[in-house]
Amino acid sequence: MDYLIGIDLGTSATKTILADENGQILSSSSCAYPLKEVNNGWAEQNPEDWKRAVLFTVKDVIKKARIDGHKVRGIGLSGQMHGLVMLDEQGEVIRDSIIWCDQRAGEETEKMQNLLSMKDWLSITGNPPIAGWTAAKILWVKKHEPELYQRCRHILLPKDYIRWIITGKYAADVSDASGMQLMDVKNRCWSEKVLHCLEIDRSLLGELYESWEPVGCVLPQIAREWGISEQCVVAAGASDNAAAALGTGIVEEGQAFTTIGTSAIVYSHLDHYKEVPEGGLHLCCCAVPGCWHTMGGPQSAGLSVEWFKEKFCQNLMMQAREKDMDFFELLNTKIKDVPPGSSRLIYLPFLMGERTPHMRAWYRGSFVGLNIIHDQAHMLRAIMEGVGYCLADCNDLLKETGVEVTTMRLCGGGSKSPVWREILASLYGCPVRTLKQEEGPAFGAVILAGVSVGVFPGVKEACRQFIQEDQLTETDIQQEKIYQHYHQIYQKIYEALKDSLYELAFCE
Ligand code: XUL
Repeated sequence: MDYLIGIDLGTSATKTILADENGQILSSSSCAYPLKEVNNGWAEQNPEDWKRAVLFTVKDVIKKARIDGHKVRGIGLSGQMHGLVMLDEQGEVIRDSIIWCDQRAGEETEKMQNLLSMKDWLSITGNPPIAGWTAAKILWVKKHEPELYQRCRHILLPKDYIRWIITGKYAADVSDASGMQLMDVKNRCWSEKVLHCLEIDRSLLGELYESWEPVGCVLPQIAREWGISEQCVVAAGASDNAAAALGTGIVEEGQAFTTIGTSAIVYSHLDHYKEVPEGGLHLCCCAVPGCWHTMGGPQSAGLSVEWFKEKFCQNLMMQAREKDMDFFELLNTKIKDVPPGSSRLIYLPFLMGERTPHMRAWYRGSFVGLNIIHDQAHMLRAIMEGVGYCLADCNDLLKETGVEVTTMRLCGGGSKSPVWREILASLYGCPVRTLKQEEGPAFGAVILAGVSVGVFPGVKEACRQFIQEDQLTETDIQQEKIYQHYHQIYQKIYEALKDSLYELAFCE
């Protein structure tokens, strides 16, 4: 029996799974690390923390599965997108990684708009200049930390830094690299034109691969540490969203899924390249060779819940501990009795700025309609609903591109909440469905590992073979009507706050 490992380098933790050649998950392990919010709208992580988490979890899954590590044939990587990792000549990390939700590079996006026309940005990179994407971050470092930029010899995405650690190769895959905004997304290669106008040296970037392609083998010292073979292949891998698409079986035109993790994304597969008007949704290469995808959603989904929990729910955390319950289990029992609309409370989930559908890096979160009847349960439900309103806006844009989803698949930690599933079904106006394989991106990484070593015949085939549907949550007509109304109010509040939030963002 051959074995495969999938590593998902998330924002709150790294999750690693080990599966056999029949797609059965035998063990899993996760290891958390901190997020450093150095400044309002900034977010950094230490790549050393990622490295430690990956080294530990791989060793742990092999130990837990009690298999002979030498039978692990392939490893697949998935990871948080857009993060900037800079290495020096020796391959040492130069500064903490500026990660995907960091909004400091707003000014750089304005500069980017002066360097190329919007038409060019959209037709080459598939997206308008975006503050959280890697290109804008590189320009920020160039301007604010020129001495660090001078020392930089390699620019990598988070999961590609892990590849460097375990294989010694500098490489990227087309799905994750689409989110750097340095690629010609239609032709699936680095864009000479974009690199030239941003004055970024091509030699700083790794070689580009399709997600399933083998990139290299595990370095001898790493293989020894993990107790695996030096012939174990590492596949190119994919962005967390593109890998989650495989893990939820979304590989055909017209299919879509929603993932709720630290961020939330509604994602749809495209067999053919198609420009997305105005950039209200992102357009990227996907992990199925020769295919693309669109996606959009709030940056602060699970992040909003985590923020509220950590800052304002010490009592609930203690209750959960006393009852020996998971916090989120307790949370679900508390919010079940709060009516849809959270008793006239609306949350705008923009703690770390807004991206799709409006691209406003300076936008920040708010609760609107607070009253003395509201308590933690109302606010937590309002957070889930606010994430839902933003996802519904993005899903409406998907519909405009001709994608009408009949059943939305779901993955990510948030999909485990029955209340969140009901909210989404009502706002999307269609049933939502979870999968038996709950691992999303990590399972997608296993599929890519299997294809890269020939254990699975192809990406689509493996998805068809292994992904199985689980629970269906139907829409509730009554609740759908209520949410349609609240969604309209949310949209009006969004518009009404725009100017004041801009002014607030530039206050002393
Ligand atoms: C997608 C995005 C997030 C990150 C972190 O554009 O920024 O989904 O990939 O999960």
